[in-house]
Amino acid sequence: MTERGQIYKCKTCGNVVEVLDNGVGELVCCNQPMTLLDAQTEGDKAAKHVPVVEVDGSAVFVKVGELQHPMEEEHSIRFIELIVGDERLIEELEPGELPEATFIVDEKVLAENDIVVREYCNLHGLWEN
Ligand SMILES: [Fe+2]
Repeated sequence: MTERGQIYKCKTCGNVVEVLDNGVGELVCCNQPMTLLDAQTEGDKAAKHVPVVEVDGSAVFVKVGELQHPMEEEHSIRFIELIVGDERLIEELEPGELPEATFIVDEKVLAENDIVVREYCNLHGLWEN
C-alpha cells in the first residue's frame, strides 16, 4: 500500500522515488521491497539537515540547514521539496550548488495552509521542517 507523498529508497542501488498517487502494490527495486523513508526532525545531525524556512510575500526561501550542509559528490542534498495545500514543488540540486531553493507560491495558499519543507541527503536520508 503506497500513499501520495511517500518517499521510498532502494537499499541496494540507492534509487529514490516519490509516490504521486495512492496504490495497493508494494514498490520493488533490485528484486527487494523498497524502504519507506520517515522524515527526521531532530537529533545530532538536525542542525545540518532540518530545512530553515523563511516566507516573504509569495516567496518561500529554504536553506539546509541552520549550519550549511556539504554539497560534495559523495555527500549532498539531492532535492528540496515544498508541500503547501495542493502544491508540491521540487528543486533538484547538484553537488557544488548551494543547498538552497526559492519557491514562488500564491500568497493566499501560503496564508491558508501549513507549509511543509522536506529535503533528501544521500547519506542521512529524509528531513522535514
Ligand atoms: Fe547529510
